[in-house]
Amino acid sequence: MYKYLRIKHSPKLKGSVKISGAKNSVLPVIAASILNKNDFYLDNVPEVADVKTLLKLLKNLGSEFEFEKNFLKINTENINNTTAVYEIVKTMRASILVLGPLLARFHDCKVSLPGGCAIGARPVDLHLKALSLMGADIKIQNGYIHAKGNLKGSDIIFDKITVTGTENILMAASLAKGKTRIINAAKEPEIIQLCGILKNAGVNIEGIGSDEITIYGSDGELLEFKKETIIPDRIEAGTYLAAGAITNSKITVKDVIPEHLEGILVKFKEMGFSFEINKNKITLIPAKEIKPVNIITSEYPGFPTDMQAQIMAIATQANGVSIIEERLFENRFMHAQELNRLGADISINGKIANVKGPAKLFGADIMATDLRASSALILAGLVAKGETNIHRIYHLFRGYENLTEKFKALGANMEILKEERP
Ligand code: EPZ
Repeated sequence: MYKYLRIKHSPKLKGSVKISGAKNSVLPVIAASILNKNDFYLDNVPEVADVKTLLKLLKNLGSEFEFEKNFLKINTENINNTTAVYEIVKTMRASILVLGPLLARFHDCKVSLPGGCAIGARPVDLHLKALSLMGADIKIQNGYIHAKGNLKGSDIIFDKITVTGTENILMAASLAKGKTRIINAAKEPEIIQLCGILKNAGVNIEGIGSDEITIYGSDGELLEFKKETIIPDRIEAGTYLAAGAITNSKITVKDVIPEHLEGILVKFKEMGFSFEINKNKITLIPAKEIKPVNIITSEYPGFPTDMQAQIMAIATQANGVSIIEERLFENRFMHAQELNRLGADISINGKIANVKGPAKLFGADIMATDLRASSALILAGLVAKGETNIHRIYHLFRGYENLTEKFKALGANMEILKEERP
């Protein structure tokens, strides 16, 4: 059967949604469990496809786990296979996160090269260069990364800030012999959580949250992970706030860490929205007039590339022209053409998108292309007159837990339908 998402015009939303654990935090943390000696208990784990894919990969390596109601118990003691196969890696490129821990613990592993994906080539050259500096012998054969060697601490300067690159080296350095300095490290909240979990497990780490992190490795001694809880997903929270913004409705996101969204909220404020923030809740207050905005995506704490598609959708309803520059990925504007199918007026010139608003949107059949682009199509479907059908919605379920339930709780008129493949 072929599933698609039908959204009917839902001009006003109201109410609140509980935000789930962060996909981009739980993926490296699950990979890090390869470094652990015994059972690892992890709470607030979102039940999303990417988590299930990574757990399938770890099971394929020989790990055991129990996962229910957002609670995960995983034990990697009996890993007896150190090859991460193409069949699993091709469905989720974040599988590259097992490379650092597998190499550090077993000194010989193979990980299928993650293909590119819709948003760009997404090479892993920086990961491999860094591991080579730590003494790994890296060969690419038949589409696999074959890495061998006993890792020693080293100074690593990343040419570009890379989130999973930083995470891979943090994990590899934790079991390496000696001191590793990561310079030009990523500073996302997800990196800070991984550092915190490794530190709680006994790794001596300095500079957490800065762009220079120093790790003193255990020289092969497995770690003892404490019980941990995954931080809330700042991008999921931003996406639901964007749903409030595009419909100019008052909505609340709960169980968030407001400071993780500062780079996002500042841009929503420029568009005329305001916020009531207390402890772990953010309420969006509608704008008197939705104003255009200029965006340049950048690494944390700047405006995140993972919110670029969503703010582009809001910009279609702003009174004026918004300019959006995508600096991190070379092909992350595919949602623009789909939004134009609904009646938006977006023109792309290289890394720059011009969004003319306000545009009256009308329902149509459109195609999801990647996780975050898909959520932008939902936002537009809320304000489009008539019905919007979003196809290839498997992208959506990779990173948004209970998506339709949460949107319906806010008053969105949507449902998942099935039909024979056209
Ligand atoms: C992480 O991807 C996130 N994924 C992405 O979220 C996010 O968009 C991205 O960081 C940027 O914030 C996870 O955390 C699982 P990068 P990652 O390495 O680590 C280039 C989502 O929707 N680069 O920080 O793969 C790369 O091409 C996903 O949840 C190299 O050139 O991104 C890009 O231009 C999408 N060589 C830039 O660096 C390398 O070896 C940043 O990439 C590595 C990266």
